[in-house]
Amino acid sequence: MTATTDAYAARYFETGTLEDIPSGHFIDGAEYPSVEGGMMEIADPGLGRVFTAVSAGDAADVDRAVRSAAWAFDEWRRMPAFQRGRILGAMATKIRENRDLLAVLEVLNVGKTLAEATAKVETAARTFEYYAGVCDKLQGDSLPIGFEQIGFSMLEPVGVVAQIIPWNYPMSTFARGVAPALAAGCCVVAKPAETTPHTALIFARLLVEAGLPPGVCNVVLGEGASVGAALSAHPDVAHVTFTGSPVTGTRVMQAAADHFASVTMELGGKSPVIALADCDIAKTADGVIGAIFENAGQICSAGSRLVVERAIHADLVAAVVDRARAITVGHGLRGNRMGAINSRRQMDRILEFIDTARAGGDRILCGGEAVADPKGGDGWFVAPTVIDDLPPDSPCVQEEIFGPVLSVQVVDGPADALRAANGTRYGLMAGIYTRDVSAALAIARDLKCGQVTINDYWGGGVEVPFGGVGHSGFGREKGLVALLSYLRTKSIVARVPASLS
Ligand code: NAI
Ligand code: MG
Repeated sequence: MTATTDAYAARYFETGTLEDIPSGHFIDGAEYPSVEGGMMEIADPGLGRVFTAVSAGDAADVDRAVRSAAWAFDEWRRMPAFQRGRILGAMATKIRENRDLLAVLEVLNVGKTLAEATAKVETAARTFEYYAGVCDKLQGDSLPIGFEQIGFSMLEPVGVVAQIIPWNYPMSTFARGVAPALAAGCCVVAKPAETTPHTALIFARLLVEAGLPPGVCNVVLGEGASVGAALSAHPDVAHVTFTGSPVTGTRVMQAAADHFASVTMELGGKSPVIALADCDIAKTADGVIGAIFENAGQICSAGSRLVVERAIHADLVAAVVDRARAITVGHGLRGNRMGAINSRRQMDRILEFIDTARAGGDRILCGGEAVADPKGGDGWFVAPTVIDDLPPDSPCVQEEIFGPVLSVQVVDGPADALRAANGTRYGLMAGIYTRDVSAALAIARDLKCGQVTINDYWGGGVEVPFGGVGHSGFGREKGLVALLSYLRTKSIVARVPASLS
């Protein structure tokens, strides 16, 4: 911890809360209470206890925010592109300057560890920096029609866009949606998940401090069923970027369809980590641990299935279990390696999967139960869990658990590994561990998913497009391709005389 995070943590554990944290919707450059006065409590998952409250809005607050964004669009789309870029660049600096407060609030909202949260502050800053550089390079084409026609295409912003954000990565999901939208010249209404409102509010304020005109980026807080539903149904929203569950994603698509809004769907996953017989066992075990226990497994792209060749199954699983047992679990501000589950509801959901596996006779090699913070004795935690040798139709192989539970599948050879890897309705990510690069590339070619990493599960960065196939959704975030959600092409053709008189 730095001096400042230390001070925040000391004050928090002493008083049970933090002062001076925002609580209202952020609309048109200022904080507002809900039109109807609604509030909701916010709990710290590491203590399992409420520590503050924020506004909870409804359709009236959404309408106010969308109208503010629509009004601001006229100014924002006229601003020279290089100036938009400077504002996004200044935002990257602001995020880094506010690193400690952002990281501590992300810990208290999500339950993750301070180290994880601090890394995500940098991810968010880097994302604004990346898109800052692209604002003045979004150019169209000249169209070769004929001598007497001159044609070209130009890229224009789609208008007001919605960002519906989940609770597992509030900062990086905000940044990867908002930064390209602003770069394209769009205005934004963001809705953070009900349990994790704070960093989005701070980001919206920092954007204004960085020079963003009021109304260009707004944040409305509240329940998905009211605020999220009203936002995706609002007739003045041109695009909805949604990250969350497939069930809710379907609802958002249906609402967007009624007013012909386009959508980006970043949904769940059941991503495989494929370990071929020739892999380096120790390095692969390290990779597997990072893939599933980062953020206590609450990641759409978690490597939640280990697909391992029989020849190394016993050795690799032993190495993984050794490492899993060594992970300290507890409050994210107390220096533990793995933090909390975001809500009691999510914890119960995870434990239900484990109990069903246990009741069916599956072998749970470690973990398999709820645990408490070793110091405070409370909070919502699940011990790092490994379940061995599961059949392909097991719920632990087919369903997204969204918790620290690794499901092991044993296979015979690379072709069988590919079959197993492709054997769910999801298709978000896959990792491959092997010394045989050409085998890895052949598997990568035939995997049904949006991204593949080789010998480095979390390899990549904001430069690398991210998204799914099948029930993992469609559309791509990150990279230059993300801009396509927020831009549309306009073609212009002019008739000109063949010669001048
Ligand atoms: P969810 O999909 O319901 O929530 C995600 C976001 O959608 C939140 O901001 C929520 O307020 C909003 N929302 C909820 N209902 C809405 C509606 N009718 N219209 C518009 N927006 C709405 O996910 P939930 O219920 O928090 O978690 C359930 C499961 O979903 C998890 O166990 C996990 O498997 C999966 N999930 C996947 C995520 C991912 O990163 N792909 C993130 C969060 C959850
Ligand atoms: Mg839900």
